[in-house]
Amino acid sequence: MTQIKKVAVLTGGGDCPGLNAVIRAIAKTSIKRFGLEVIGIEDGFAGMVLERWRKLTDYDVSGILPRGGTILGTTNRDNPFDFETRLDDGTFIREDRSDEAISNLRNLGVDALIVIGGDGTNIIANKIYRKGFPVVGVPKTIDNDLLATDITFGFDTALSTATEAIDKLHTTAASHHRIMVIEVMGRNTGWIALKAGMAGGADVILIPEIRFSYEKIIESIMNRKSGGKRFSIVVIAEGCELPNGGQVYRDPQKGVKPLGGVGEILTYELDKRTHMETRLTVLGHLQRGGTPTAFDRVLATRFGVKSVEMVVEGNFGMMACLKTPNIESVPIEEAVKEQRKVPSDGELIRFARSVGTSFGD
Ligand code: F6P
Repeated sequence: MTQIKKVAVLTGGGDCPGLNAVIRAIAKTSIKRFGLEVIGIEDGFAGMVLERWRKLTDYDVSGILPRGGTILGTTNRDNPFDFETRLDDGTFIREDRSDEAISNLRNLGVDALIVIGGDGTNIIANKIYRKGFPVVGVPKTIDNDLLATDITFGFDTALSTATEAIDKLHTTAASHHRIMVIEVMGRNTGWIALKAGMAGGADVILIPEIRFSYEKIIESIMNRKSGGKRFSIVVIAEGCELPNGGQVYRDPQKGVKPLGGVGEILTYELDKRTHMETRLTVLGHLQRGGTPTAFDRVLATRFGVKSVEMVVEGNFGMMACLKTPNIESVPIEEAVKEQRKVPSDGELIRFARSVGTSFGD
């Protein structure tokens, strides 16, 4: 047991349903069970560098369990090891301000930091830990691409949103005898596309882990058509590579290039090649918003409580994780080693194929 009196928490990277549920669990467990003071750092690591924070009381976290987003704010840019500052003349400088960020916390009397984020955020968290500051990580991302946990919170909610959208698109697709293409998020992995596609009964599911060809997609759409089914639902993950090119980015000029746009190209190609009316829906950030599902609320609460237990036990440099049925901890280093991909020959793919789903291969 370590002598912890004050714990700080920050949320980093893209927002995700369930963040507030984790913050609530951290604050309530710290205050009620362990008598700790809780500091909420604002806007991710930027707040640590720029000293933006506030004390969190039990009152502050009341009622936030079902609320989407994060009451603390977040950014997916600010890295204390490569911190960007905009100068008066509009230019930017980048510098390592990690020592300053850590001293800011020390001067505030913070004994340990809980970082809630995806792989990018946890990599920074681990670097702070390696500099000697006690850190605990909590895994978050709608993409479900973190290796060391069975599932991340936020994924289930994103999945529900995507499934609901597919259900709605089904009825309009059938009425108009159209091909409906739905582009979903997931970065370089196809977890959202695969599971939402299966849940929504998509006819074609395209994921980055399986290379697709236009010919194979069209073959399966035409097979359906000749069997009397004059519409098709095609779900595509934003991270898919085009048959004759790579991944597609919304803004290729940006440093961290945001994926997006592959659905538009696919829609154009299917419309042109099949002579069937084809329409596109890009779900985008809808998948990150809104109230978390019951599953995510419970998982987020479990992660939050566990992270405080880890702080009190002195279990630093570690990340809370789900090893079904238990919440355990793993070294952050291990958790961020590589992204968790959909196994292309795994059970889910086999079962989806078994009910007639095409993966465009
Ligand atoms: O990692 C979560 C995620 O929503 C990805 O699925 C997506 O590629 C990315 O973030 C979008 O980031 P941004 O909010 O910067 O557009």
